Amino acid sequence: MSLNDRLKELRENGINDAKRAQHLQDLNDLRVQLLGKKGPITQALRGMKDVPKEQRPEIGTLANNVKKDIQTAIESRIEEVNKRIIAQKLQEETLDVTLPAQSHEVGTKHILNQTIEDIEQFFIGLGYEVAPGYEVEEDHYNFERLNIPKDHPARDMQDTFYITNELLMRTQTSAQEGRDMDAHDFSKGPLKMISPGIVYRRDDDDATHSHQFHQLEGLVVDKNISMADLKGTLEALCRHVFGPDREIRFRPSFFPFTEPSVEVDVSCFNCGGEGCRICKYTGWIEVLGAGLTHPNVLEMSGIDSNVYSAFAFGLGPERFAMLKYGIDDIRDFYTNDVRFLEQFKGVN
Ligand code: PHE
Repeated sequence: MSLNDRLKELRENGINDAKRAQHLQDLNDLRVQLLGKKGPITQALRGMKDVPKEQRPEIGTLANNVKKDIQTAIESRIEEVNKRIIAQKLQEETLDVTLPAQSHEVGTKHILNQTIEDIEQFFIGLGYEVAPGYEVEEDHYNFERLNIPKDHPARDMQDTFYITNELLMRTQTSAQEGRDMDAHDFSKGPLKMISPGIVYRRDDDDATHSHQFHQLEGLVVDKNISMADLKGTLEALCRHVFGPDREIRFRPSFFPFTEPSVEVDVSCFNCGGEGCRICKYTGWIEVLGAGLTHPNVLEMSGIDSNVYSAFAFGLGPERFAMLKYGIDDIRDFYTNDVRFLEQFKGVN
């Protein structure tokens, strides 16, 4: 075989080998093997000495072209193999960018806290101070200072969790009244306070009762405080919470520490007073207890009941929230089921 043909054969074989190669490593080996110093082309060119002089340049050119063609074939095959590798990788590591991102759950203020804060804001706007008080309270403040001496039958209704004979879990935020009256300096003006917090009673838990619930106390001590002040204040509160068209009414009631005492109804926000399921077809909903502070209570705090008078009220934030949002089981507030809680995201 002439050198010419030998070179052409090497070219054909080299290009075919390159085309068939599957791996980058094989192609690298092929390059070293075919184009290296010990490769078949270099070897073939040793036969140059037998070629007539005038043909040598032509053979030289051919040899260079053969090398170049094999080189090109290897490079383009390397490119193909690389492309295949990338395509394979892309396929294997598929990332579905249309998948919804993992959402980051943001919690919400508990509906009870929203309700309490809304009421607090209302009273702060009227110049009241907020005094939360103590959940572990003295019998003295929880009962005696509220005109409920030991053995008074009114204690039965609030039979409670005693820690010692003198210490108990408070049964009402009214316990804070005596503390605030003790602490207040009347030379600086009237006492206007609200006191939100948790209270405890030996109640059986059911849909409307819990052994632990919230109250929000209000107390105003000043000269010439009357039922009119109490009524105006509570009417404004009910209109703030339940809507601008609400009316309120007082029904006589009894609390040992207020005289007279009232239970307060608000006209039904659902039916406007016509009668519906929520107001049990009466047009009115009972929302809180209140009254004019008993002179004994003022005197026990060293306040002259001939000069000063006072009103007080106690409301249940759970009851307010249940009425306003149509919640029918008080236990929903405490079991922390997110499906319940997230319904009230930012309602207030
Ligand atoms: N503390 C009373 C209760 O728990 C409510 C109340 C507060 C009544 C203030 C009158 C004045 O039932």
